[in-house]
Amino acid sequence: MEVCGKMLILSGVAVAAMFFFSPAHGAMMLSPGACPDGKQPGESWSSGDCGECTCLAPTDWMSEGGYSCASCGVYSIQLDNPQCYTTKETPDASYPQCCNIAVRCPGDDGYNETYANGSN
Ligand SMILES: *[C@@H]1O[C@H](CO)[C@@H](O)[C@H](O)[C@H]1NC(C)=O
Repeated sequence: MEVCGKMLILSGVAVAAMFFFSPAHGAMMLSPGACPDGKQPGESWSSGDCGECTCLAPTDWMSEGGYSCASCGVYSIQLDNPQCYTTKETPDASYPQCCNIAVRCPGDDGYNETYANGSN
């Protein structure tokens, strides 16, 4: 497979010769107990670098309710071309769009050789 070729789309959409990876499975954490900051069941809020939490109502197995937080999870992307690197495409977007990873190679919009040579 040619990682920097313009024909390779693993998952996600290609825009202007850049490649996006949307992790299929984020990481999920469940915390029993009261929701922080007086949040009520059904309310969501952003957490951490690129995550989202949701307040949950009490259930049979979680008598005081709780909240779940989703984050981007882990990805391992090996690139054949040391001039290419991965970066968050829209780090300021809300979850889960902020998880999308773009591959940048020389000539791509926003390419910054400071990040090349596998140093990320
Ligand atoms: C490349 O990234 C470095 C480190 O963030 C930054 O200092 C530099 O200004 C960037 N160069 C360009 C051309 O954006």
